[in-house]
Amino acid sequence: MCGIVGYVGDGDATRVLLSGLNQLEYRGYDSAGIAVSDGGGEICGDGGVDANGGVSSDGAGIDVRKRAGELENLEAAIESGAPTGSVGIGHTRWSTHGPPTDRNAHPHTGETGAVAVVHNGIIENYRALKEALVDAGRTFESDTDTEVVPHLIEQALADGADPETAFRRAVSQLEGSYAIVAVFEGVDALFAARNDSPLVLGVGDDGYHVASDVPAFLEFTERVVYLEDGETVVVRGDGATVRDGDGDVVEKAVTTVDWDVEDTGKSGYDHYMLKEIHEQPTALRQCLSGRVNELDGTVELPEVDGVPAPSTVHLVACGTSYHAALVGAARFREAGTPAQAFLASEYAVRTPPVGDALVIGVTQSGETADTLAALRAARSRGARTLAVTNVVGSSAARECDDAVYIRAGPEIGVAATKTFTSQVVSLSLLVERLAGSATGSEASRERLAALRDLPGLVQQVLDESAAAAVAEAYVGRDGYFFIGRGPNHPVALEGALKFKEITYEHAEGFAAGELKHGTLALVTERTPVIAVVTGDDAAARKTVSNVKEVEARGAPVIAVTDGRAGVAEYADHTLALPDAHPSVLPLLANTQLQLVAYHVANRLGRSIDKPRNLAKSVTVE
Ligand code: F6R
Repeated sequence: MCGIVGYVGDGDATRVLLSGLNQLEYRGYDSAGIAVSDGGGEICGDGGVDANGGVSSDGAGIDVRKRAGELENLEAAIESGAPTGSVGIGHTRWSTHGPPTDRNAHPHTGETGAVAVVHNGIIENYRALKEALVDAGRTFESDTDTEVVPHLIEQALADGADPETAFRRAVSQLEGSYAIVAVFEGVDALFAARNDSPLVLGVGDDGYHVASDVPAFLEFTERVVYLEDGETVVVRGDGATVRDGDGDVVEKAVTTVDWDVEDTGKSGYDHYMLKEIHEQPTALRQCLSGRVNELDGTVELPEVDGVPAPSTVHLVACGTSYHAALVGAARFREAGTPAQAFLASEYAVRTPPVGDALVIGVTQSGETADTLAALRAARSRGARTLAVTNVVGSSAARECDDAVYIRAGPEIGVAATKTFTSQVVSLSLLVERLAGSATGSEASRERLAALRDLPGLVQQVLDESAAAAVAEAYVGRDGYFFIGRGPNHPVALEGALKFKEITYEHAEGFAAGELKHGTLALVTERTPVIAVVTGDDAAARKTVSNVKEVEARGAPVIAVTDGRAGVAEYADHTLALPDAHPSVLPLLANTQLQLVAYHVANRLGRSIDKPRNLAKSVTVE
């Protein structure tokens, strides 16, 4: 979810790298850095702190500059003397290990300064690797998982390996997801590898580029080579050699992309929201990475190692995060731990007795004033607090006793999409980890296997969804009702919120059984009812009865279903869900509803990424 750029060629590497980082940065990253080499010279220093408080190592070899905060901080820091050279790497960071500081920013070096590395993803076995490196006498400067990579490379160089062998040897020791690019002192080439994290090459007229996203080099070339998992590549100014995991050379096709430079930050999508909906499989993989041990049915969340199994749980949140909290509360209860979700704004003014409850603040931004106030109210009553958030170092993360990060990457669209999905999955992991009765059982193993399969299933929904056609059929009606029962109730609420937020049309979400207690009076042939029906248990069958009630009043019905309850028979349109474990079906349904909202809003020409009157982070109560 971070941004990577690299360049080797005849041009000015610093200019090319900063241009690329600008394309990737758009908004929300927390630090940035570059490492530039002139391709020759001597081994330089070891990354000391420069006069401006940032980290730099300048010498004849690799010049590393990095700064916490927005990219402009880095640009300001190098204004008076930019690194010069024709080969370099750059990075914009979204923290997953360690707070956003100068030292934790990429690129990372080892001890000699002979190699600098940028990395996206998560190195799952970094603790074991770091321990071995420390035992071998190496010292670390940062809190990141990435820093093991330059140390491993340096170790191999010290053993006499050439740069390519050293790079491949280091990469072969890594487990997890990564896109890695390294630059070596005195070498006119970049060395890159990918596994479960995007990496592309750009073939330019005056050099080669490497990046996590095509827009990073679109200013220089539209000719692209897509790398596959397990491949490594040596990139020179006039060519690149790609090898597979066995070291055999792979011939790669060069593709020409025809993206509009205007849309670069959106990677070719018309809106950030659509891009973020499509990023959900990647975000989920990152959320789950290194946290699930399917074999023994356990979850590793070192962040909560000090948190005892709670007797009661309160979840406090707003908006979409509240809907994720509703799912989380239900999961805690299913695991035998009493739990309740509260609207944070209500909790803050009428705080219930907290006793020895664990109070969990669910907040994407970690800055929502209502949620912070609720957490403070809980803390003032002696409760232990835990933040489930996307932003490392956010107020919620800092103020709570503990924090679990959802690792969704920056979300630019005001409407929360991928962060909702990652919140639900993070809360599910938390339940498996904290609620005593949940861990290790057969049922737990099945749920964890379902989470493992979830990214692929979300991808399937994205690939096959008929949401655009449904949107076209029902745009411009009088109102929209979303219904769901049990685990699909929060999905109905979230579907309606997303819909009204970006379409500006009236929409309401209901527990399916509740519509007949009043709101049925509003149901007509001009008010489509979107019914989420999964599985074929009693809840599903009762929801089918509710669908018949609205159908009898002439309302068009759109069924979001895996087909097992037979609701399609009463529906005008169906949004199909793949066969999946019951615990993940609601998230698949939610993906369909995100797409429906998006396509209706797009059809109406709404300001999708910045809906009127709304802000991404609501910092007033
Ligand atoms: C809706 C949306 C909002 C937020 C709410 C809480 O799409 O994004 O409802 O969910 O403002 O924000 P966070 O999660 O940052 O606390």
